[in-house]
Amino acid sequence: MAGRRPAFPRLCSSVALLVVAISCLVPSSEAYDPLDPNGNITIKWDVMQWTADGYVAVVSLYNYQQYRHIQAPGWKLGWVWAKKEIIWSMSGGQATEQGDCSKFKSNIPHCCKKDPDIVDLLPGTPYNMQIANCCKGGVLSAWAQDPENAVASFQVSVGQAGTTNKTVRVPKNFTLKAPGPGYTCGPAKLVKPTKFLSQDGRRATQAHMTWNVTCTYSQFVAQRSPTCCVSLSSFYNDTIVNCPTCSCGCQTNSTAPGSCVEGNSPYLASVVTDSHKNSLAPLVQCTSHMCPIRIHWHVKVNYKEYWRVKITVTNFNYRMNYSQWNLVAQHPNFDNLTTIFSFNYKSLNPYGQINDTAMLWGIKYYNDLLMTAGPDGNVQSELLFRKDASTFTFQKGWAFPRRVYFNGDNCVMPPPDSYPWLPNASPRLAASLLFSFVSVCAVLAILLIHV
Ligand SMILES: *[C@@H]1O[C@H](CO)[C@@H](O)[C@H](O)[C@H]1NC(C)=O
Ligand SMILES: *[C@@H]1O[C@H](CO)[C@@H](O)[C@H](O)[C@H]1NC(C)=O
Ligand SMILES: *[C@@H]1O[C@H](CO)[C@@H](O)[C@H](O)[C@H]1NC(C)=O
Ligand SMILES: *[C@@H]1O[C@H](CO)[C@@H](O)[C@H](O)[C@H]1NC(C)=O
Ligand SMILES: *[C@@H]1O[C@H](CO)[C@@H](O)[C@H](O)[C@H]1NC(C)=O
Ligand SMILES: *[C@@H]1O[C@H](CO)[C@@H](O)[C@H](O)[C@H]1NC(C)=O
Ligand SMILES: *[C@@H]1O[C@H](CO)[C@@H](O)[C@H](O)[C@H]1NC(C)=O
Ligand SMILES: *[C@@H]1O[C@H](CO)[C@@H](O)[C@H](O)[C@H]1NC(C)=O
Ligand SMILES: *[C@@H]1O[C@H](CO)[C@@H](O)[C@H](O)[C@H]1NC(C)=O
Repeated sequence: MAGRRPAFPRLCSSVALLVVAISCLVPSSEAYDPLDPNGNITIKWDVMQWTADGYVAVVSLYNYQQYRHIQAPGWKLGWVWAKKEIIWSMSGGQATEQGDCSKFKSNIPHCCKKDPDIVDLLPGTPYNMQIANCCKGGVLSAWAQDPENAVASFQVSVGQAGTTNKTVRVPKNFTLKAPGPGYTCGPAKLVKPTKFLSQDGRRATQAHMTWNVTCTYSQFVAQRSPTCCVSLSSFYNDTIVNCPTCSCGCQTNSTAPGSCVEGNSPYLASVVTDSHKNSLAPLVQCTSHMCPIRIHWHVKVNYKEYWRVKITVTNFNYRMNYSQWNLVAQHPNFDNLTTIFSFNYKSLNPYGQINDTAMLWGIKYYNDLLMTAGPDGNVQSELLFRKDASTFTFQKGWAFPRRVYFNGDNCVMPPPDSYPWLPNASPRLAASLLFSFVSVCAVLAILLIHV
């Protein structure tokens, strides 16, 4: 095992410096995510053609977030019209409500609401109602995972809108639901009209007018309680460090019956099928942590030049198959990751040089679907790291991840002084060292989030 002096204080000070440096560079924003500083969803609105009383536009959503996707039942985009606009017709999407169109006698608009909400159409929509990048049921992949499916578009024909670039007004108050809260959208900004290249690349056409809206995500806006937690174990210590109690919620007694389900309950099947009414809320198995998702990091084997970690993701939610799930983990040894079994891997380097952050996701048709709670409700992988003699150690919890995200949400970690220790380590000293490292970094992270 590592006989060298640990590089912890040095690591901490360099991390601290880096974090401070970065916090001064990035523009302040409440929804700032240090592992994906440029992550956003950009809505682009291209006016393609004038009509008798308005225009036809193609509206596209680009999910530029590295690891946060939108899964079923999908996105919902809303705005408030600036004047008395109406929607004559749509393809590749639809307004959820028509609203009051009683003023119209012969030609009935698709939607007359002042604040329409648009959703995607479902796969299998007839061809004459489709456009490119539509009809995926509102599912939008993460950019790092599947950039081709990280774009969604629909076409809208707008009436009573003005027919020149001087009379058209940009809509206000864009909202993006995914499908719950979490995204905050800025104002629409007129930008240079988009250019479209012909297939052979020899001719470019352009939109009459284009405006962009940027929406950013914040876990704080999305929901107050976390959705995942981390547990730890190692070959060198029998202790299994469980997720902290009440990580995502507490088991309440009689006050809220049905807040969780016992895994061996004979009524399980009926409870699960019964409660389709509110299918967005998770229905979790009763555990001390009450999280829908648990990530277990096991330090499995120590070789001469390598070491091996096993990661298990367990679903405790009876109401959710997690399709296209992903995991982000931060550990200093990811710059020497040698092999990864049965997951896809991509290095994320939000700050250029340092690749200590990895994005992991399932292999298509093999384990990209994390099944509902039960015997099939888990996915596993093993990672082989090459030891870098200057940093590698099993002491002071170095072998455990610094940060873990599941589907873009930060997971609750056990307190560092509870990590499994090497039998010969002096736990008190090690604990205080590690604790000060983590607390300094946590304070910096908190500062960073609130900048
Ligand atoms: C949105 O994300 C893209 C791609 O990462 C980036 O180029 C752009 O600057 C971002 N926009 C804002 C307003 O942050
Ligand atoms: C509107 O069109 C005119 C003439 O094509 C152009 O000069 C002007 O910049 C356009 N304005 C906007 C807001 O796009
Ligand atoms: C847009 O949102 C702002 C702030 O939430 C609100 O004050 C304003 O009334 C809204 N505008 C419209 C047209 O709904
Ligand atoms: C507007 O959004 C599109 C699509 O993301 C992007 O290509 C374009 O550069 C954006 N324009 C500006 C000025 O940000
Ligand atoms: C549930 O309530 C009983 C009595 O009301 C109490 O003894 C027990 O500790 C409670 N359990 C939990 C998990 O709160
Ligand atoms: C999860 O997927 C399985 C198999 O595709 C399906 O039978 C089941 O109904 C799904 N469960 C939920 C809650 O969507
Ligand atoms: C680290 O990042 C560099 C450049 O971004 C990349 O070439 C290299 O493969 C990455 N290393 C690992 C282990 O992913
Ligand atoms: C580990 O990765 C770093 C940065 O990519 C490299 O400088 C170093 O040589 C690697 N160490 C080993 C043992 O491969
Ligand atoms: C294993 O780690 C725990 C801390 O989580 C510690 O209390 C215990 O003493 C360690 N066991 C051995 C054999 O060192």
